[in-house]
Amino acid sequence: MILHLVGPGPGALTAPEIAREIAGSGRRVEVILEPGARHFVGPAAFENPVDEPSELPEAVLCAPATAGILARLARGLDGNIVGARSVIVAPDLDPFTAEHPAVEENLALLREDGCRVIPGRGEGMAPAAEVVARVLGGLGGPMSGIRLLVTAGGTHEPMDSVRFIGNRSSGKMGLAVAREAVRLGARVTVVAANVETAEPGTETYAVETVEQLRAEVLRRAAEADALVMAAAVSDFTPAAPVKEKIRRGEGGLSLELQATADVLGAVRERYPDLFVVGFAATHGDPVADAREKLGSKRVNLVVGNDISRQDIGFGADDNEVYVVGRERERFVPRASKRDVARVILDSLLEEMSKERQE
Ligand code: CTP
Repeated sequence: MILHLVGPGPGALTAPEIAREIAGSGRRVEVILEPGARHFVGPAAFENPVDEPSELPEAVLCAPATAGILARLARGLDGNIVGARSVIVAPDLDPFTAEHPAVEENLALLREDGCRVIPGRGEGMAPAAEVVARVLGGLGGPMSGIRLLVTAGGTHEPMDSVRFIGNRSSGKMGLAVAREAVRLGARVTVVAANVETAEPGTETYAVETVEQLRAEVLRRAAEADALVMAAAVSDFTPAAPVKEKIRRGEGGLSLELQATADVLGAVRERYPDLFVVGFAATHGDPVADAREKLGSKRVNLVVGNDISRQDIGFGADDNEVYVVGRERERFVPRASKRDVARVILDSLLEEMSKERQE
């Protein structure tokens, strides 16, 4: 059980989301609203508001934590944290309060006591998703100890200074995998090709082109146990990109394209023991293509989906996939990308532990 203490600060507005997301990882969350917190949020916003915890909590999260709460926790004046294995605080302080020597001293005392502090952002508490990621990352889970590298998005190959050849990948599938992996306790690095948002709790590297993606993935794979290659990688690039803008001129334009480097091939060559999940985007039944890629790309799993359908895959919030391994394949009927990500990660964990036993 996780005990969530909600302090009286603006960060309390995001407390329901934090409690809900932590509960989404399968843990019971009990919420105590501190005096004054009700000015910001009421008990009806939480699934389990309580006056007293029902048992000794596995961890106590204090989010938002005001200067008063930090003082109470640091000076041993809060019975709620006595006996808890882990204490995490997310301070919600304005810049002047944050710099006050007494507040700094309290935070230092808390850190000395082994408490984890999630630093705020300038004007207040860290964003809810970051708090959730930090809490779940520290609690351990089925993926704790695993370093996962995920690629997301789609590459852009420049034709000239303003145009590129790209694809319709939104990055949602890769980010969903990254997010779920954080929830399961993995340490997650994302190489994101042209994706607007970074997934909180991950280390994210932004790239644009296949060449940049290849270089970054090869660099980051040195410190990874597994790679999920969800990015849609351009198969072709203009043979001779022009530095300036190509003028319209008369008539049409012929563009000579050349094949790009095979990123998965390069990864497999340099890291033969890395556990690799590839994707196969196919028009029509994806299973045969996924099976073929499992062999030709020498990967451990292939996630295949049918891109001829409008309701799933590129840009959509849902997906329907086959997760194809050497011995078995799992069909995931249309579900949110979050649920699909969970199946991909469950399959990865199962296959990785099988390989370790072999
Ligand atoms: N991929 C890669 N490097 C490329 C192209 C694709 O590493 N230059 C990866 C993708 O990220 C994906 C997998 O290979 O995980 C399959 O991508 P896909 O485009 O379906 O396959 P291709 O290798 O391009 O083969 P084809 O287009 O002929 O189906």
